[in-house]
Amino acid sequence: MTDPAFDADTLRERALTTLTTARARTTLLTSCVEEPDLTAQHSPLMSPLVWDLAHIGNQEEMWLLRAVGGREAMRPEIDGLYDAFEHPRAERPSLPLLPPAEARHYASEVRGRVLDILESTAFHGTRLTEAGFAFGMIAQHEQQHDETMLITHQLRKGPQALTAPDPDPVPLFTGPSEVLVPGGPFIMGTSTEPWALDNERPAHRREVPAFYMDTTPVTNAAFQAFIADGGYDTERWWTPEGWAHIRQHSIHAPLYWHRDGKQWLRRRFGVTEVVPPDEPVLHVCWYEADAYARWAGRRLPTEAEWEKAARHDPAGNRSTRYPWGDADPAPEHANLGQRHLRPAPAGSYPKGESPLGIRQLIGDVWEWTASDFLPYPGFQAFPYKEYSEVFFGPEHKVLRGGAFAVDPVACRGTFRNWDYPIRRQIFSGFRTARSAGDA
Ligand code: AVJ
Ligand code: FE
Repeated sequence: MTDPAFDADTLRERALTTLTTARARTTLLTSCVEEPDLTAQHSPLMSPLVWDLAHIGNQEEMWLLRAVGGREAMRPEIDGLYDAFEHPRAERPSLPLLPPAEARHYASEVRGRVLDILESTAFHGTRLTEAGFAFGMIAQHEQQHDETMLITHQLRKGPQALTAPDPDPVPLFTGPSEVLVPGGPFIMGTSTEPWALDNERPAHRREVPAFYMDTTPVTNAAFQAFIADGGYDTERWWTPEGWAHIRQHSIHAPLYWHRDGKQWLRRRFGVTEVVPPDEPVLHVCWYEADAYARWAGRRLPTEAEWEKAARHDPAGNRSTRYPWGDADPAPEHANLGQRHLRPAPAGSYPKGESPLGIRQLIGDVWEWTASDFLPYPGFQAFPYKEYSEVFFGPEHKVLRGGAFAVDPVACRGTFRNWDYPIRRQIFSGFRTARSAGDA
């Protein structure tokens, strides 16, 4: 690899920084509430926060101390408790979990030993250590759980525990509402990004016919127009499964919204506020996104369309790491890293736009795509099947681009997230597309 950003010293430094950044976030998310709020289950969809904390330490111990460092298990008796496949989330509160002080102590003991191993490990020789992959994987894992914990904080009832400044206000976006992405092949996925996870690999050619892509995510104002037009009461906008789901669960608006006379209010991290019209819509499930798109005479983009819009550089005829090029995300590019606890208004971050002028592909809200979560041709599970492989199939839909809750280390133009089409506690929104052949 000739790219200086990927040399061993730079990557070792980055491993240290990203692990440290992740731990600071974990510490904040697990110290801003009292102990009972750490051990309580705030929703059957989520683990108690104290489970995430010890699970973060346990995964780090398994991969960095045992697999990379060759160390013995520190507490073999707790492995089962923190194995996500042994106990579904709903069961976790009844397990004999480490209490908060012990969980904190365990995670910090692990981290102390990891820092020794980081210094003495060569960043080549095995697939796990090549370019510091295992360290990057574990930093991403911790940040993914920091996002999970932020979801738990949003589900938690009670007064505000977290605060962050709002994104800067921007002038109302006046650019075109959609742009034409020309047809032709592009390179999807990656074989060179050192910390890309198994499901992002390998790079391969994809033919993508011409299509139009929204320049910004769908806003609350646009989504309110769908609601006002009876969108939730009109069967023809919905797939049969989506229609059955919203009927059965009496879903009439995005999660956390409620109607107060003439206006929509929402609850956000313990505060009730008017739904801001210019912000990307948040907390919608795949069925809602799909129904909105059909109402608008459009459709969700496929995953390949999304990635082509985000990475294909027509001038260089190659795929970049991000919409703005190959530079790591900086605050002027995208709303990432829990710097803000909400999406920025549609049309923000002009410096983060794609060559075709598509904005906010990275950050703000996860974007539902039309596609099922499937392996790329040549996929190989690495280093464990339970990260991606066991989730491949039609029951999960792919989300792209990351949200305000996602750290830059766990977000790339190639990064793939997935969930069930009914899920809306995640930080999910969407944008729409249409085929270029359509009127
Ligand atoms: C990629 C977000 C679907 O949280 O289930 C965390 C990430 N995998 N620990 C999840 C993950 C193992 C995963 N998602
Ligand atoms: Fe995990």
